[in-house]
Amino acid sequence: MVTFYKERDRVGLETREKTSVCKPDIIVFDQPEQIDQYAADRVINQIQKKPNSVLTLPTGSTPEGMYKKLVDAYRQRKVSFKDATVINLDEYWPLDPNHPASYSTYMKKNFIDLVDIPLEKWHIPNSRAPDRNQEAARFERLFEEAGGVDLAVLGIGPGTTCHIGFNERGSAVNSRVRYVSLDPQTAMENSKKFPNPEDIPAGTITQGVANILEAEKIILLAKGVIKAKGVHLALEGPIGSDAPASFLRYHPNTTFVLDADAASKLKSS
Ligand code: PGA
Repeated sequence: MVTFYKERDRVGLETREKTSVCKPDIIVFDQPEQIDQYAADRVINQIQKKPNSVLTLPTGSTPEGMYKKLVDAYRQRKVSFKDATVINLDEYWPLDPNHPASYSTYMKKNFIDLVDIPLEKWHIPNSRAPDRNQEAARFERLFEEAGGVDLAVLGIGPGTTCHIGFNERGSAVNSRVRYVSLDPQTAMENSKKFPNPEDIPAGTITQGVANILEAEKIILLAKGVIKAKGVHLALEGPIGSDAPASFLRYHPNTTFVLDADAASKLKSS
């Protein structure tokens, strides 16, 4: 048997070996809105079962609908985030956190300022930290302090990037929080979110693949044909650094939640 990666035990921080390839669950919905509802329900169920859950949450276009549904559920008093902790996946570096395209701004606008999570329980890399490596080390320590992530919600990168967080092609299975340069395909796609596309930073501080794989449960959301190739590579290509999302096949509790377009290149669907 091959050892693919070593995972720190969620409680004892002992190392344990992962040796098997798993088959993620795949759910394909007709309508993208059904993805939003499914994802919101997973988060709500998690918080209802364990109010002090630790969540890893994504940014980007894909989860906007999920956040709307979470905010609605909060306003209807179906869920409270007051005891929850949120550790975001990633943030550009360097960038003014108040820049309209920063992920800090995104999170405040779509979620953090609209629900009851205490600000000190929301963690995102500091995009204006003077030293990116020191900031990555600070962010890494949060995982131990939080005692492990209960549920991670992910997107997937455009085209053939197959990134999770900003773990672009070349990222190792045992990578941890660090600075990563953007893949040209990612830079091209994400620069559309910047008022001046040339202002997109060259890189980000991101959770590593290992940080993501240590979450107890993972859901990956993908909408649209721009994700079809990446979803195919992740689920049906070789497992490895050429397609970082393929490492999710080492995780025992992952669900890919797709619309028909994102699933359109899967042989098995
Ligand atoms: P998107 O980004 O939701 O804006 O497509 C997802 C990602 O790059 O991981």
